Amino acid sequence: MERRNAVKTVIVNGGPRKEWNTAQLLRSAAEGAQAAGAETEYIDLYDLSYSGCRSCLACKRKGVENPCRCFFRDGLSPVIEKVHQAHHLIIGSPIYFGQPTGQLRCFLERVLFPTLSYNSFSSIFTGKIDVDVFLTMGETKESYDRIYKEKMEAYFAPFHSFKGTVRIHPVCDTAQVKDYSEYEMAGIPGARKLALRDVEFPAMLQLSYEVGKRN
Ligand SMILES: Cc1cc2nc3c(=O)[nH]c(=O)nc-3n(C[C@H](O)[C@H](O)[C@H](O)COP(=O)(O)O)c2cc1C
Repeated sequence: MERRNAVKTVIVNGGPRKEWNTAQLLRSAAEGAQAAGAETEYIDLYDLSYSGCRSCLACKRKGVENPCRCFFRDGLSPVIEKVHQAHHLIIGSPIYFGQPTGQLRCFLERVLFPTLSYNSFSSIFTGKIDVDVFLTMGETKESYDRIYKEKMEAYFAPFHSFKGTVRIHPVCDTAQVKDYSEYEMAGIPGARKLALRDVEFPAMLQLSYEVGKRN
């Protein structure tokens, strides 16, 4: 019987918290991927020491063997190699000041710049990776659609370099803490957010499970 190679799913947490909204969604996606038999790797970017692209341009040098790799070595190097071999990349990030986190931005620069040809301005990536992005945020879905949606589509468009689908899943109105009475957060409707966490967040966990399972 012919054996197909297992799907490789790489899950990247671009948020600092390992137990909160973003991480919970990604853990659920990992469970879905494992249930579907994918080889699954879960990476916390905040555990790694790395920078964004250093513009060393080693990947653009004439005659370089395998230009579609990042030549700069640091804590992200093994992650870049794993991502480039994946079939499915699942990214999560909180929104900070209207953008995904800085760590995610550095990751984006490093995994994508080597795939971009400066001769043709097209992708030289030879694999195919489907990309799913979970963005968690305090804003409501209505605000996301109005303020962030277009901006986030543009932000993640460079992932089309991986030649697969790129899908963004906003997870809005998240609860930031378990007990708002312990914090100076009077401007935030904590009770409503905690209620939503019980009502709406489980559906988002189910969605991320299905995304991991590639349903
Ligand atoms: C530094 C910082 C900046 C934030 N900026 C925004 C923002 O601009 N828009 C927004 O909707 N939420 C913002 N938030 C809220 C987080 O995006 C939201 O709580 C998110 O779900 C946190 O993810 P986590 O629970 O996985 O840590 C901010 C939170 C922090 C800590």
